[in-house]
Amino acid sequence: MKNLAGKTAVITGGNSGIGLATAHEFIAQGAKVIITGRNEKALNEAVAQLGDNAYAIASDMGDMQQIRQLNQQVKAIVPGIDIIFVNAGIGKFNQLESMTEEMFDEIMDINFKGAYFSLQQLLPLVNNGGSIIINASINAHIGMVGASVYAASKAAILSLAKNLSAELLPRKIRVNAISPGPVGTPLHSSEKLGINKEQLKSMDEDTVKQVPLGRYGTAEEIAKIVAFFASDDSSFILGAELIADGGMAL
Ligand SMILES: NC(=O)c1ccc[n+]([C@@H]2O[C@H](COP(=O)([O-])OP(=O)(O)OC[C@H]3O[C@@H](n4cnc5c(N)ncnc54)[C@H](OP(=O)(O)O)[C@@H]3O)[C@@H](O)[C@H]2O)c1
Repeated sequence: MKNLAGKTAVITGGNSGIGLATAHEFIAQGAKVIITGRNEKALNEAVAQLGDNAYAIASDMGDMQQIRQLNQQVKAIVPGIDIIFVNAGIGKFNQLESMTEEMFDEIMDINFKGAYFSLQQLLPLVNNGGSIIINASINAHIGMVGASVYAASKAAILSLAKNLSAELLPRKIRVNAISPGPVGTPLHSSEKLGINKEQLKSMDEDTVKQVPLGRYGTAEEIAKIVAFFASDDSSFILGAELIADGGMAL
């Protein structure tokens, strides 16, 4: 179904995992998509896969100088946008005793500050009646060893769905959030998580035991929910959160 025909979307962190699956879904539903990310090779490969309706902008959501260019960079491609999927994020984990200021800042800078100020940049380009979807996490709701800073960054962006929905009412821009449980993406690699292969294996085994459905979700399952929030099928929903976690928070 072409629910997003004629719409233009920006997906931050669209060269991998949930962001890339969502770019595929949006394009399948008729949208034009601009993806962002840091890794230029991955961005180029993603655009090649996604086809003619995809564009890429290399931009680091942890760098305010680059974020400040986002508005102009998007405007150079399209005059306006209808959908923003605020998705770029990292998962790094450490317990309180060993958390460093550097890791704390990296997580908060990308997952919260970067999300917030990229929205500030993009908002003037959003057409009235547009839709913003925030990618939070089930970690905003549960207690998990080593996850306190990541969880706090996600709790912070989750609160944007309600507060920005109130702020953006005059423009009828709806803001909603999705909170995925564990999803099988490149985020779950020893390189991205900053842990060794053994730690990764035991983390994955522990995590899957906490999911009543007994498996990780797929990026495609999450993408379909994001597309629902992006489309007029969700026209009476704002400030909401949908938890897609295989029952983890039951
Ligand atoms: N996978 C899960 O279990 C899970 C569960 C709940 C929530 N989430 C959230 O879902 C989102 C997507 O994660 P994923 O699982 O799809 O992981 P992923 O495959 O690693 O994708 C992360 C995306 O974010 C981008 N990104 C990271 N840091 C960035 C930065 N500083 N500037 C610009 N882009 C940046 C990455 O691009 P570059 O590599 O080019 O920087 C990539 O496109 C994240 O916000 C994550 O917290 C994931």
